[in-house]
Amino acid sequence: MRKKFIAGNWKMNLDMAGARALAAGLKGKLSQSGVLERLDVAVCPPFVYLTTIAQVLGDSNIRIGAQNVYFEPQGAFTGEISAEMLKDVGCRYVIVGHSERRHVIGESDDLINQKLRAVLAGDLEAILCIGELLSEREKGKTEEVIDRQLRSGLALVEKHEMARVTIAYEPVWAIGTGKVASPEQAQQAHAFTRGILASLYDDSVSQAVRIQYGGSVKPDNAADLLKQTDVDGALVGGASLKVDDFTGIIKAGGAN
Ligand code: 13P
Repeated sequence: MRKKFIAGNWKMNLDMAGARALAAGLKGKLSQSGVLERLDVAVCPPFVYLTTIAQVLGDSNIRIGAQNVYFEPQGAFTGEISAEMLKDVGCRYVIVGHSERRHVIGESDDLINQKLRAVLAGDLEAILCIGELLSEREKGKTEEVIDRQLRSGLALVEKHEMARVTIAYEPVWAIGTGKVASPEQAQQAHAFTRGILASLYDDSVSQAVRIQYGGSVKPDNAADLLKQTDVDGALVGGASLKVDDFTGIIKAGGAN
C-alpha cells in the first residue's frame, strides 16, 4: 500500500503575514486530528518564506518543499538557489518540472532532468511534474507527452533513487482553470505513467512510486480522485491557500 501524499504548492502567492497564518492554521487543525500519521503532507511556500514556515510548523509533521531549484551546487549563479541551501533551511521536497516552469518560464526537458538529479544528489526528495497541454490532449498526444516527459525527466536516475521521487500528473488544462480531470481521466494517465515506470525500472519500483494528481483539486472533488487505484495523492494549488479547503482535501486523502 502506498501512503498517500498531499502537497500544497503556494506558487507566487501570500505575504509574510499570510504565509505564517496559513501555516499556523494548518498546524492547528491537523496536529490534533491524527491524519498526519496516516498520510504525508507538505507545503511548498515561496523561497523567501521557507525559513519562517519551517519555524512555524516546527515538529508538526507537516513537511516543507521548495517550488524550484538550480542544478549547480554553488557559485556564480546570481539569483539561483541550490539543493544544499534548500536542505539547510529545512526542505524535504523540491518540485521540478512544474508546467508553469515548463511553459511560462521556458524550462527544457533537459534542464528539468538536471534539476531533478541535483535534488537527489542533495539528499532531498523530488516531485516531478508531468502533463499535457489542452492542444496535446485534443490531438490524442497525452500518452506521448507523458512518455517523453517521464523518460527525459528521469534520465540517469537510478533505481535505488526512485524511493525519493514522486510523480505529479498535472494536465495543464486543469491547472488553475477549475476544470478538473475526471477520476477516469486521472486514473488512465496514472496507470499509463506506472506502466512507463515499470519499463524504465521494474515492477517493484513502479508499484512503490507515488503518483499525485494536480489540477483544480478541491475539497468536493478530492475524494473521488483519491479513490482511484493509481492516484496516490494530490498536488494542490489554489485550494492549498485556504486552511479549510486544504485540510478538507487532506482529510479526504486520509479517508481513502
Ligand atoms: P490548482 O490546484 O490551482 O489548479 O494548481 C495545481 C497546481 O499547479 C499544483 O502544482
